[in-house]
Amino acid sequence: MVLDALIKIKNEIDPSLTFRRSCREGICGSCAMNIDGCNGLACLIKISSDSESTITPLPHMFVIKDLVVDMTNFYNQYKSIEPWLKRKTPAPTPGKEIPQSKSDRAKLDGMYDYWGNPESYLGPAALLHANRWIMDSRDEYTQERLDAVNDEFKLYRCHTILNCSRACPKGLNPGKHIQNIKRLEMAP
Ligand code: FES
Repeated sequence: MVLDALIKIKNEIDPSLTFRRSCREGICGSCAMNIDGCNGLACLIKISSDSESTITPLPHMFVIKDLVVDMTNFYNQYKSIEPWLKRKTPAPTPGKEIPQSKSDRAKLDGMYDYWGNPESYLGPAALLHANRWIMDSRDEYTQERLDAVNDEFKLYRCHTILNCSRACPKGLNPGKHIQNIKRLEMAP
């Protein structure tokens, strides 16, 4: 994998080479970078056997060093959508899980894994998670969540060109979920 090549370069050629990695199995997202023009996870992308590769940091983000980008804005955007269950009424059985039907749970498929962008636009990762909580039958702040993202910059900077779905290293479809938020915003 490309990550193995980077580790080999760091170990044997240039110890100053800086990049992030943790799980090495496509879960944590820390090795996200741009490889031959596409954003992806270096631990999941095979080294090209027949051509040289160009590896650069994720685009549209401040670079701290080499392949390490500043994630502060990404985490601030993520935090702003309040990614936790919010209830107005007590849980049906205090101290127990809040049950959910299979069909309600199925509405959350494809919104658990993830992936951000410039300052005011929330970006596909945060909007995907916003929709995850908007669609959760157990959450009771649906309208407040819709009101919070109903903003020219936060939501409507997405022009549905679906680059996010094509580039998503986890094979998710953020574009579809952003469209769902826009649809709900327009619902009477
Ligand atoms: S190291 Fe965790 S996704 Fe690549």
